[in-house]
Amino acid sequence: MVELKDIPVVMDINLKCLPENYTQSFFIQHYKKFPKAFLVAEVEGRVVGYIMCRVEHGISNFKFTLTKKGHVISIAVLPEYRRMGIGYNLMVKGMEALKEYGATEVYLEVRVSNYPAIHLYEKLNYVIVNRIHGYYADGEDAYVMARPL
Ligand code: ACO
Ligand code: ZN
Repeated sequence: MVELKDIPVVMDINLKCLPENYTQSFFIQHYKKFPKAFLVAEVEGRVVGYIMCRVEHGISNFKFTLTKKGHVISIAVLPEYRRMGIGYNLMVKGMEALKEYGATEVYLEVRVSNYPAIHLYEKLNYVIVNRIHGYYADGEDAYVMARPL
């Protein structure tokens, strides 16, 4: 689990790895509300990656019902530590936590050009359920990817 002292490091990794950046209060809000689903990966005592998730109520991506949906807000691993299984592990642990919070499925948005991330999610049996045109600030489309939990 993330600790309050890790938030600045998480924000730094987020800035280095993704154009989608958030305020400190946004991170702290998730840390307070869904601590079990906000995880960091450490290598030799150094935080090198994170995943931040939350639980929402909404219409299922798989059936016509309202359900608790896990939402992977953001995941990133520092470039020097990629392709070591850290992202995969963060996703697995994040999904376990979302299930503990009662989520029956999980979804996320990803840039249609982000092949590494799309491959990671496909490896975890996520499927593309939607494409949102112009989702990102620069106009790029997002895939919505989801899977049951
Ligand atoms: N090319 C193709 N497939 C890849 C790549 C790549 N560069 N990187 C990961 N994968 C796939 C592979 O299937 C890989 O399994 P394999 O190594 O056995 O082939 C699988 O993902 C697991 O890889 P990990 O090593 O666990 O992933 P990593 O620790 O490198 O983290 C991540 C992946 C988080 C996407 C990393 O590349 C990253 O931080 N990228 C920049 C930030 C980013 O794009 N985050 C996701 C945005 S969407 C969102 O946050 C919801
Ligand atoms: Zn489009």
